[in-house]
Amino acid sequence: MSGTVAVIPGDGIGHEVVPAALRVLDAVADFEFVHVEAGDAVAERTGTPLPEETVDAVTSADATLFGATGETSADVILPLRDAVDSFVNVRPARTYPGVEAVQPETDLVILRENTEGVYAGIENRLSEDVSTLTRLVTQSASRRLGEFACDYVADSGSEGFTVAHKNNVMRVTDGLFVDAVREVAAERGVDVDDQYMDAMATGLAMDPEQYDVIVCPNLAGDMLSDLAAGLVGGLGLLPSANVGSERGIFEPVHGCAPDIAGEGVANPTATVLSAAMLLDFLDHGEAATAVRTAVEATLADGPRTPDLGGAATTEEFTTAVVDRLPGD
Ligand code: NAI
Ligand code: MG
Repeated sequence: MSGTVAVIPGDGIGHEVVPAALRVLDAVADFEFVHVEAGDAVAERTGTPLPEETVDAVTSADATLFGATGETSADVILPLRDAVDSFVNVRPARTYPGVEAVQPETDLVILRENTEGVYAGIENRLSEDVSTLTRLVTQSASRRLGEFACDYVADSGSEGFTVAHKNNVMRVTDGLFVDAVREVAAERGVDVDDQYMDAMATGLAMDPEQYDVIVCPNLAGDMLSDLAAGLVGGLGLLPSANVGSERGIFEPVHGCAPDIAGEGVANPTATVLSAAMLLDFLDHGEAATAVRTAVEATLADGPRTPDLGGAATTEEFTTAVVDRLPGD
């Protein structure tokens, strides 16, 4: 089971949760890891948050494991997602036995458009008083997200998907988005409904069981996935996969958590589960399942990290996961 994986811890707890995920990967696979830097610390040292050798490593590796960066995030993860043309961010959110959750029945996935919307970076300061932002929505990006969603629904055995949008206000951009995604679903014979994203926020908070696969624009996906994290027990639990084309970047949904960085208590679950998504992406499905099973058993029986009410360190939790892997 081989392949090349670029590894970017980034900043803050990235240096704690990424080594945890590497311990898990080492126990189930035989990847060659290429360690590179990105983020605030390297920017401070060298003047750039995204050194060229990092981009080269990511574009030549089979996949990338990314921790989190700090204030330079927009200059790091957005260009990296572009560099490998990962046009969708897959963000599953589910509850686990043993983990207290606001909404214990949550089990959904958010498919977030990953290349445009208000994150396209087209901002202008026109005067002391006036600033503007251009929201980019294209037919091609919306259609390929729709295609991905249809494939995802077919592969996962889901009944269909729900599109989140605000086409009553952003009539042109979200008008195009919803129409394009719906058109693809109709061509593919996939069931689709849609909902205003503000109403969906309430729906998620009060009755998340009604959702299965959610397809949404970039910013909405960012916000709704943090909301979903809140429903299931916190940001320490949510993994993600930037995929869609040949290469993928796998990262937790959370940031570099400066408030707990250096304490050794970050929950590595999100990053370990991102590594499981990486294993799936590289066709190591059996290893991915083994990792998920070990994480679920550890969350159920403990030890747990402080964000989940436990007292375990990152390392103790990780050891408990590794000990539960087959053959260890
Ligand atoms: P954050 O996700 O880093 O932290 C939010 C809260 O969740 C904090 O209280 C933190 O302690 C907690 N938390 C997050 N991950 C955790 C884990 N694994 N275990 C236990 N607790 C965890 O978001 P915040 O505070 O808004 O941003 C901090 C920095 O991270 C900022 O500089 C921001 O720009 C950056 N960021 C980077 C991202 C990326 O690299 N993709 C994504 C989001 C934020
Ligand atoms: Mg976010």
